[in-house]
Amino acid sequence: MSAPTLFDALAPQPADTLLSLIALHRDDPRPHKLDLGVGVYRDDSGATPVMRAVKAAEARLLETQSSKSYLGPEGDIRYAELLQPIVFGRAVPADTFVGVQTPGGTGALRLAAELINAARKNAKGPGAKVWLGTPTWPNHAPIMTAAGLTVATYRYYDQATQTVLFDEMMAALQGAAAGDVVLLHGCCHNPVGADLDRSQWRAVAEVVAQRGLIPLIDLAYQGLGDGLEEDAAGARLVLDAAPDALLAYSCDKNFGLYRERVGALYAKGGTPARTELMRSNILLLARVNWSMPPDHGAALVRVILDDAALTADWRAELDGMRSRINRVRQALAAGDPWLAPLGHHRGMFSLLPLSPDQVATLRREHAVYMVGSGRANLAGLTLDTVPQFIDAVRAVR
Ligand SMILES: Cc1ncc(COP(=O)(O)O)c(C=O)c1O
Repeated sequence: MSAPTLFDALAPQPADTLLSLIALHRDDPRPHKLDLGVGVYRDDSGATPVMRAVKAAEARLLETQSSKSYLGPEGDIRYAELLQPIVFGRAVPADTFVGVQTPGGTGALRLAAELINAARKNAKGPGAKVWLGTPTWPNHAPIMTAAGLTVATYRYYDQATQTVLFDEMMAALQGAAAGDVVLLHGCCHNPVGADLDRSQWRAVAEVVAQRGLIPLIDLAYQGLGDGLEEDAAGARLVLDAAPDALLAYSCDKNFGLYRERVGALYAKGGTPARTELMRSNILLLARVNWSMPPDHGAALVRVILDDAALTADWRAELDGMRSRINRVRQALAAGDPWLAPLGHHRGMFSLLPLSPDQVATLRREHAVYMVGSGRANLAGLTLDTVPQFIDAVRAVR
């Protein structure tokens, strides 16, 4: 028996429920089982394929890459530049925008949170509470608090009636203090699937500007909702209205690069001097977190976006993925009035008004796998399996 050590003081942490769901699904022998759990895109055959343009870029990179020497904490600068027209609709001015490569959208969010916290600690006054609409991606609050920030919440969505609580959101933002941060899902809300419409985005942009709030936009699914341009439209309205803003981007879904960890953090500063402060602090924080981000995935995105033919092929395949998800959504909405809201939602996820018990019954009796909150990844369905899903949901309601 060894003597107690420092690590005996660690608090036990719950196991990741998604990982146990994966294992349960894998070990289920029923051939008709449906996996609506894990948050990755699936094609009609249930696969999460490497995109064609990514395969081609990998072959090209293998041929042409001549060194794997270190880059800097900003990662692949050309990658972050080439993404600008996709994210912002144009190249943004270098004296008021900083863009760095990060390990996934998660790394971008963590870096954003640490930047806010570094500023908050130096600023006089309370400042920089982070406002989250609930429910939200389960990692948002832990990332913010791990970086030292305080989280405040408002209700964004009512699961039972499947409606966005826009009035509650606006009331919360109108009550937020200048310098507070408001985290916004750019498109394809995870987990609820319901996004703001154009006039709601306009109202959010106005309140952000009026109250001096700092938007932190999480854009992790661009192109999987209504289209690359459409999915960034709300984010662009808010970015235009706010002098200072942060945008955490992920290429892990729209380029299908998940495990390669491809993201970017963009920071907009109201003046060149402030932007320079943001830049030097972002680089320092990247350096103490991961020194520099992993190269391969971002290099692939760079190769694709630097080549017109590869870009066109990437866009075409992304269009196909989006259309497939939206066809499944329309079939569900047409198949049962209870599922009608899903036709208006966008992205892979919708939060169904099901209790944890109903979700457990779906798994046990109908081999339908979903996370306990009722979030369904609709990319796990095909037009052929939609009727089976509708029957299963009817049986447990
Ligand atoms: C809303 C949201 N933001 C950010 C991320 C992070 O994505 P990444 O895998 O690039 O870290 C996810 C991933 O599931 C997400 O759903």
